[in-house]
Amino acid sequence: MESAADHIEMAKKKAAYRAVDDYLLPSYKFVGIGSGSTVVYVVDAIVSRGPEFYSGMTFIPTGSQSKGLIKTAGLNMCYVDERPFINGQPVALDVAFDGADEVDEDLNLIKGGGACLFQEKLVATAARKFVAVADSRKKSLRLCTKWKTIPIEVLPLAAPDVLRRLRTMGSPSPAVRSGLPSKAGECVTDNGMWIIDAPFSPLLIPEDLSSAEDGKGRDGSWEIQTLADELLKVPGIVEIGLFYGFNGSQAAGLGKELQAQKPVAAYFGMPDGQVQVQNA
Ligand code: 5RP
Repeated sequence: MESAADHIEMAKKKAAYRAVDDYLLPSYKFVGIGSGSTVVYVVDAIVSRGPEFYSGMTFIPTGSQSKGLIKTAGLNMCYVDERPFINGQPVALDVAFDGADEVDEDLNLIKGGGACLFQEKLVATAARKFVAVADSRKKSLRLCTKWKTIPIEVLPLAAPDVLRRLRTMGSPSPAVRSGLPSKAGECVTDNGMWIIDAPFSPLLIPEDLSSAEDGKGRDGSWEIQTLADELLKVPGIVEIGLFYGFNGSQAAGLGKELQAQKPVAAYFGMPDGQVQVQNA
């Protein structure tokens, strides 16, 4: 008999296969591969197409886990800082696929549950399009509803002061993530940093704002962009696990190509075996 865990794995797999079907074109050359348990199926889906499909592609990992996935699958790999230059600029990735910890109705994301958020953001913003893959548990109306904390990558030396600043911003009990059970002491990222998990009240989106609610953190109630701007000013914060703003399709119209953090679409594997696609 199939367990609940089997159903969730099947949901992730279906979402990943559909996302690859829809967004990985045979002409693509550079493809970002994110971190976590769902991207395992993204790599599976790519491999299932056979070498004639993927041998002209190079895959860019977001950390040591995805490096391992790419290498084990026998795909071509290069690190984000090793991409060839075209016209003096590092080549843009055609598309990047990654998981998410929570996705709101505007396609803002929380990421970093697996401690890879900094390289994940680097790769997502280097891509013309970013596509999120997840199971239905990650779908939410507002961030910090189901996934209650924002993962924040910090310089270890700065951790006590970052924790103090987070408390003054209304995060009641931010904490440095432990490496237990597999590692004694702190969770150390691929970049030699630590992760702070900071709980916040559900994050507002622009349509929630009113004259009575400005989203500037009164009573700990924040709008995503406003909170992100404040967090990124804190010395010692290297990157935050909020992916927000605009997506790769909107970037050109804004004159902000290769700065997009939001996915153009999120693929959710649902309990009934269907895949639900949330488009921008
Ligand atoms: C790692 C991440 C992952 O993409 C996120 O945690 C989702 O993981 P999973 O696919 O295992 O649910 O952000 O830092």
